[in-house]
Amino acid sequence: MVDELLFGNISFCDVLRGFILNGLKEFGLFSQINKFSTMEFQELIKKRQSVRKYTSQLVEKGKIEKLISAVHLSPSACNSQPWKLIIVDEPELKNQVAKATFSKTIAFNKFAVEAPVIAVLVIEKAKLIAQIGGSLKNQEYPYYDIGIAAAHFCLQAAELGLGTCMIGWFDEKRIKQLLKIPEKRKIGLLITLGYAPEDYKLRQKIRKPVSEICGFNKY
Ligand SMILES: Cc1cc2nc3c(=O)[nH]c(=O)nc-3n(C[C@H](O)[C@H](O)[C@H](O)COP(=O)(O)O)c2cc1C
Repeated sequence: MVDELLFGNISFCDVLRGFILNGLKEFGLFSQINKFSTMEFQELIKKRQSVRKYTSQLVEKGKIEKLISAVHLSPSACNSQPWKLIIVDEPELKNQVAKATFSKTIAFNKFAVEAPVIAVLVIEKAKLIAQIGGSLKNQEYPYYDIGIAAAHFCLQAAELGLGTCMIGWFDEKRIKQLLKIPEKRKIGLLITLGYAPEDYKLRQKIRKPVSEICGFNKY
């Protein structure tokens, strides 16, 4: 810490925080605090699930603002932020957007009509540096970026007691028309948002075994 101080890249607050954390460590409290915050995030991850039933309760403006902030602060390749978040909460327009996620034959997204809000994540053009990097590395960074932004949105919503469901099956042309999205843009995802009924159960997560999705030091 003395070295860092000498190099002048550390503020008074950092020094103060260092002393406080060292003090907590001395008294064995630091590990408790760490354990607590890790637990909380795991609980939030488990609490987030796709909600496919909604009450008519409207979403408070303050909560919408927090969700917008979660997307706003989301990371992206080269900090490109290649997204535009459209909050659709005007009831008639929202219903029309919801109806563009299902048809008579493919109706699994019918629940979208119940949600009082639908968020639409449009993929914007990435910064030139991200475009060059992506094409050199054969990667479509904006798709990752939009996924991370969507995850921020859904986890923030869960923390606020709200339900979400990401929707990747929709009539893109129709939604572009409804929301006046330029023809050349691509819609990444829709996210339904609202309150789940009180008796809506937290489901057991169905996932592949950990051994199948994670390796240590090799594939
Ligand atoms: C990119 C993407 C697209 C999805 N599209 C749909 C969809 O169109 N309709 C739907 O009901 N769920 C959709 N889902 C939700 C997934 O089915 C769900 O996340 C998955 O089954 C895991 O369940 P959980 O979210 O409850 O943990 C989508 C999820 C993602 C990430």
